[in-house]
Amino acid sequence: MEPPITALRPHLTLAVEPPLALLCPPNLSSLTESRLTQPAAPLSRLSVFDSSRKQNIAQHRKSLPIASVEKRLVDEVRHNDTLIIVGETGSGKTTQLPQFLFNAGFCRDGKTIGITQPRRVAAVTVAKRVAEECGVDLGQRVGYSIRFEDATSISTRIKYMTDGLLLREALLDPYLSRYSVIIVDEAHERTVHTDVLLGLLKNIQRARSKYSNDRVNIEKNKENNGTLSDKENCVFLKQCQSRKFPPLKLIIMSASLDARGFSEYFGGARAVHVKGRQFPVDTFYTHHAEPDYLDAALITIFQIHLEESPGDILVFLTGQEEIESVERLVKERLQQLPEGSRKLLTVPIFSALPSEKQMRAFRQAPAGFRKVILATNIAETSVTIPGVRYVIDPGLVKARSYDPVKGMESLIIVPISKSQALQRSGRAGREGSGKCFRLYPESEFDKLEDSTKPEIKRCNLSNVILQLKALGVDDILGFDFMEKPSRASIVKSLEQLFLLGALTDECKLSDPVGRQMAQLPLDPVYSRALILASQFNCLEEMLITVAMLSVESIFYAPREKLEEARTAMRCFSSPEGDHLTLVNVYHASDEFLDKRMVGLSKEKKDKILSKWCKENFINSRSLRHARDIHSQIRGHVEQMGLRVASCGDDMLQFRKCLAASFFLNAALRQPEGTYRALASGQVVQIHPSSVLFQAKPECIVFNELVQTNHKYIRNISRIDYLWLSELAPQYYCSQN
Ligand code: CDP
Ligand code: MG
Repeated sequence: MEPPITALRPHLTLAVEPPLALLCPPNLSSLTESRLTQPAAPLSRLSVFDSSRKQNIAQHRKSLPIASVEKRLVDEVRHNDTLIIVGETGSGKTTQLPQFLFNAGFCRDGKTIGITQPRRVAAVTVAKRVAEECGVDLGQRVGYSIRFEDATSISTRIKYMTDGLLLREALLDPYLSRYSVIIVDEAHERTVHTDVLLGLLKNIQRARSKYSNDRVNIEKNKENNGTLSDKENCVFLKQCQSRKFPPLKLIIMSASLDARGFSEYFGGARAVHVKGRQFPVDTFYTHHAEPDYLDAALITIFQIHLEESPGDILVFLTGQEEIESVERLVKERLQQLPEGSRKLLTVPIFSALPSEKQMRAFRQAPAGFRKVILATNIAETSVTIPGVRYVIDPGLVKARSYDPVKGMESLIIVPISKSQALQRSGRAGREGSGKCFRLYPESEFDKLEDSTKPEIKRCNLSNVILQLKALGVDDILGFDFMEKPSRASIVKSLEQLFLLGALTDECKLSDPVGRQMAQLPLDPVYSRALILASQFNCLEEMLITVAMLSVESIFYAPREKLEEARTAMRCFSSPEGDHLTLVNVYHASDEFLDKRMVGLSKEKKDKILSKWCKENFINSRSLRHARDIHSQIRGHVEQMGLRVASCGDDMLQFRKCLAASFFLNAALRQPEGTYRALASGQVVQIHPSSVLFQAKPECIVFNELVQTNHKYIRNISRIDYLWLSELAPQYYCSQN
């Protein structure tokens, strides 16, 4: 049999780049820059996971580039209300700065330091790491909060969270009064939440410093407070009395050396550079474009494993499914190697991975083993995984894309930008010299965009607009965005919100529907579906549907067992469509748990459920996550006073509710078996994984559009065409 690890070498050209630091020289010269440097101490590979862990951690902290500039950084924060900190990935910004500020007294008076992350995984793993560094239990002084998971308490002073979560907090506490410092981390990623947050924080900071100045005046002369409205004054006086309102310190952190944009946006805010440590990285390209990048990645993994000196491998893939399939293939191919060459350990890391599993990526591989980390973009800058010396980069990323004319958002796999490619190769040079294998020709690198387009320019804005409206920002077009989204996409999203009933004719948040929708931590379409479902008496079913749609694919169909997986799926499948099929899976898991689980521990329950999932080709990770989300949103809707009832066997009722909720994504079958989406006019096809793939009903609603070489729709249910004008008359007019 041919060994599985031959092909790549002939494709590769050695094109050694200069050390990364020279490729992207600091670009802060026009700013009021202060270059913070540290003595160049050689960094030894630290084994932070052995018995003298505490000592090693302390030593590791001291060796970080940021450690030697602690005092200067704290002074910078003291003297500047807004500070931009640029520093290479791994220099210690995320884990250390909050600890420096805590030690310097920024949490006096019970205030909290909040650090936002674009990704859930980063918030969780970093919080765990920092809790350990501080020697405290997670959730006490150091905690995290992400959607559907809260590990904080009243004693939490250093709080990591997603940027989206802080936006939600602002709904309840418009001045974010519990925070003395907010650090917007990974700002270079420019997620839509980061961009909206920056605008909001700018306003909050201004309001808080105005109020703190006013406080002095008001305290001097309590009668003379005419500058504030009665309501503001009342809130403000209360805040003053409990001394809740110090000015807000704002720190923007970025791994990208171009800080100019942030500085200008914050009125010429001061920017400082923490110099990192970067060893040279040799970069290799393929001779030709690789037709199958996953296969090329596999070959490269084994080539490194068998031929290169020790060091872990980091592979950048585009999503959970890809990671899981590469993980399986690596394990299979390992079995074909001689016993002595099998010491290769795969560890996945991606956002939807339950947090306890994410931590595996940070653990050192057992002695003699090499670790291969299969990661999404998360490992580009958000988390630094120790031990990596080899990077495999197919040069792709899964990104949101939005067509404001058609009102359609989709996930597509696109080439990364040059700055992302450099960040990725930089991961190989953190602890010593490394190698980066780019699975594309050098000529392709030259064609890449310099930097990534901010997400706000390529996503559906209805979610953030709903939140801004709920925060009292009515003039969305006039909102001070760092980079304005196009007028067309703002208008389209406003129109969608209006059609969903969240906005009035005057474009104000409707009451109660719009307000209720803004309270739910879900996409507006799903929030609306839950509210409608309480009227259709099928909220029980819709809660399950929304929870199951909120996780990555529930079914798992390995290529080599496709038929078995399909047979298993048929046991759950409903002729009405994927939504009811998901409900069936959930009910079946409920039934299974009810029968067997009385008196068992959680671990035992999880184990038994995992076994059941495996037998039924269900992704146990996704199902557990969905069950968790279900119980949380159930809590939300009950708190809102919605009636949670089941429609029992009345599936017609549930399908009508699906039609009323997802009418913006209705599609009609065409003579040749494709579908035409009614809102956008796009021609789409049912994804082969849908239970309706064969049946091809005349009229359907769907939830997701995925673009590969075809435009596929997923999560589909059969509806009656006539229901559309009956249930969504605001959008479809009757033919009569
Ligand atoms: O934010 P920045 O990229 O500057 O660095 P960081 O995330 O604070 O990481 C500093 C160091 O902490 C790195 O060397 C990581 O290897 C280590 N770290 C870790 O061991 N475990 C984590 N969960 C996070 C960071
Ligand atoms: Mg960081």
